[in-house]
Amino acid sequence: MVTADANAAGDAIDGLIQHEQATFLRRQPRSTELIAEARRHLAGGATSNWQIAEPQAVWMSHGSGSKVYDVDGNEYVDMHGGYGVSIAGHAHPAIVAAVSDRVRRGTHFAQPTDDAIWVAAELSRRFELPLWRYANSGTEATMDAVHLMRAATGRDVILKVEGCYHGHHDSVQVSVLPEPADIGPRERPHGVAANTGIPAAIRDLVVVVPFNDLGVVERVLTELDGDVAGMILEPIMMNAGIIAPGRGYLAGLRELLHRHGALLAFDEVKTGFTTGPGGATARYGIVPDILCLAKALGGGIAVAAIGGTEQVMSLIADGRYEQVGTFNGNPLAMAAARATLSEVLTDESYAHLDRLASRLRAALDATIADGGFGWHVVAIGAKGCVTFRRDPVREYRDFLGIDDRLGHAHWLVQHNGGVFLPPWGKVEQWLLSVQHGDADVDLFAANFARLASSVG
Ligand SMILES: Cc1ncc(COP(=O)(O)O)c(C=O)c1O
Repeated sequence: MVTADANAAGDAIDGLIQHEQATFLRRQPRSTELIAEARRHLAGGATSNWQIAEPQAVWMSHGSGSKVYDVDGNEYVDMHGGYGVSIAGHAHPAIVAAVSDRVRRGTHFAQPTDDAIWVAAELSRRFELPLWRYANSGTEATMDAVHLMRAATGRDVILKVEGCYHGHHDSVQVSVLPEPADIGPRERPHGVAANTGIPAAIRDLVVVVPFNDLGVVERVLTELDGDVAGMILEPIMMNAGIIAPGRGYLAGLRELLHRHGALLAFDEVKTGFTTGPGGATARYGIVPDILCLAKALGGGIAVAAIGGTEQVMSLIADGRYEQVGTFNGNPLAMAAARATLSEVLTDESYAHLDRLASRLRAALDATIADGGFGWHVVAIGAKGCVTFRRDPVREYRDFLGIDDRLGHAHWLVQHNGGVFLPPWGKVEQWLLSVQHGDADVDLFAANFARLASSVG
């Protein structure tokens, strides 16, 4: 039953969204002009569909430190972080120096440079996997991971968690943000194609399971004994706000998969580096067979990495699996990754990020408690989000119950208040950078308090 209070709150959210969208558009006339101009030769007037948000895409001019500036001259504290990339902040001196030096000495040979060795050794140290290769995007890394699981086992079926995003190649474009009407029973979710252009034959090789449920995985592995190549998942789910793994979940998965001759692949494209120096792998002490990194690794330059055990990576080493790419190990990307790992993502930086995250969390928790909202702040390392729900979220289906409008209203209020967040309110997270300071998180907290007082 919808109560009068709930109706009033709903009306308040709708009113707030309308008001904030009007303000948003008023502040960005130049973006509006550029979108119209872009539409002539850029499909949809943007360079990725995920740059188009409601009420319109924000066109950027530049970034410096913890701030970004749009083409209308508005300044924002950047907590969008380029979808989880910009943990170094903008124009970090160490990255500027490394990239400038590399540019002057040539940026592409399609042959390795010595930075590639240094970066691989550092990734081995942080993530405890001995052997590495590079690629250029998270999508390429998870595509290699799926290929490797299939090549190593000679099996075709993979398990994938409902609600996880792993990029836009066919095998993982299944049940990413499926609609409630399509998802089927919880114990046996339907595999729902997440895009057009995904062949049903490939979709049918993907078995979807809920996050945080070992029982369902065990049942599937038993039913399909001998057919499952492996399972890919984000060890901390970050496509549905943030959902942490329950105690024993990751260890249990590895044990179950290995018992059935299958492999475990962690997609740490988002969690690697942002949740700690060695990502979720080091945080929970569970080393998978295959690990994917991208986003924050390059300090703002496109790069990805795939790590694996000796056994898995021997497929690459002896040529049974061709892990290739013109830009793999690109010198510019390697120089940026080396500077990021050696000079930016230091122990002191992680201590700074933890301190900022605690400060922000305390302020948000206080606002939530004062208003009696029962929402949750979920913050792990430099990543965080507010889950607009009273009960904790353990899997994708819990997340479906959250009112989309609150996330959108939050995004708009932060935006107009000078903090840039990823647009898909309840799906995405904030990212702090090493160049953020107290004033940056305090502005976020003040905007959040304004949201709370507007909808409370
Ligand atoms: C967990 C995860 N995996 C893979 C990807 C794909 O990375 P990319 O966009 O670099 O292809 C993303 C992108 O958001 C992601 O969040």
